[in-house]
Amino acid sequence: HVSTVSAAMIGKGNFRHFMEKEIYDQPEAIAHTLHTVIDPGTGVATLPYPLEDAESVSKITILAAGTSFYSGLTARYWLESIGGVACEVDLASEFRDRKAVLPKGGVVIAVSQSGESLDTLMALRHGKSLGQKVLALVNVPESTIARESDGVLLTRAGPEFGVASTKAFTAQLTAFLGLAIALGQARGHIDKDEVLRLVTALEGVPGRVAEALKDTSAYHAIAHELSRAKDVLYLGRGLSYPIALEGALKLKEITYVHAEGYAAGEMKHGPIALIDEHVPVVIVAPSDGWFDKTASNMAEVRARGGRVILLTDAHGAKELGGSADHLVVLPDVAPEVAPILYSIPVQLLAYLAAVEKGTDADQPRNLAKSVTVE
Ligand code: G6P
Repeated sequence: HVSTVSAAMIGKGNFRHFMEKEIYDQPEAIAHTLHTVIDPGTGVATLPYPLEDAESVSKITILAAGTSFYSGLTARYWLESIGGVACEVDLASEFRDRKAVLPKGGVVIAVSQSGESLDTLMALRHGKSLGQKVLALVNVPESTIARESDGVLLTRAGPEFGVASTKAFTAQLTAFLGLAIALGQARGHIDKDEVLRLVTALEGVPGRVAEALKDTSAYHAIAHELSRAKDVLYLGRGLSYPIALEGALKLKEITYVHAEGYAAGEMKHGPIALIDEHVPVVIVAPSDGWFDKTASNMAEVRARGGRVILLTDAHGAKELGGSADHLVVLPDVAPEVAPILYSIPVQLLAYLAAVEKGTDADQPRNLAKSVTVE
């Protein structure tokens, strides 16, 4: 028996689109997901099968498509630096036909909102054939990917109807960070104080996200500009790099404006040639260990006449706000949880740009919510 909840049953409430509703659902989606990984009473993070025997995990290979792939790219930073585990991330459509060499004791994590993306399912099966155990990270417990995996970790985002994924993405990030903390603890890679600091930071995220959603007045002029652009660049470093990629994907999916996400340090190797006064550049830059380097990339954009849209916090605004054309200031958070919070402005910008342009954010042309064909 497969229970299905229809869009009509859920409804949009007072929102214009499901996408808008789902953006605003995020404090709750993150809070619910958080507590599947971290016990609210004890603060202890528990590991799902087949990661329970944390010390014997030789490598994690994350496989996914679309937005889920970008949650995997973010997770790699956490699994390495917090979890102390070797990690590789690949697009499901590439991995399924690749002769990857994977170690004994390796675990594949198949990430999928729907649990039905055909490429991800095929990649999962390929991973199994290479001797890997498989953990599914899905939002639909009865899905094919969940059923074919050895273990399941659920995001509790609730049903997502907008074709462009929003709350499922931040829920995936939340689950991954919880997983990284649990692995780091079990493998002795981080000490008790560090576990406590990270768990506290993660538990604060729903509140920070709610704060970020409270006042969106800064977004309208930016969304207007993005909706009229021909090309938009998104730049970020480290943990912000996948968020730059996700921001660009969101914008192209629902506004059909050409957008590219780039690692800020890679700009000098090509995309800088595109920059002139007609190209808005969205810079994802919380004040973290990468901030100073990103700031110098921002100066390079300015020097070529590019228009800078800076997403940062109070400290970043003080340092760089004066040289940005537009500024969005987000609440202060620990650098490790920043990617979850900074997903909000890139989603809002894409959504509001779609509203400006009059495109259908919920049903963009040529796209499907889940792709179950070759
Ligand atoms: C489609 C959707 C995307 C989604 C991707 C992966 O392309 O349009 O929004 O990110 O599939 O979907 P999944 O359900 O596997 O996460």
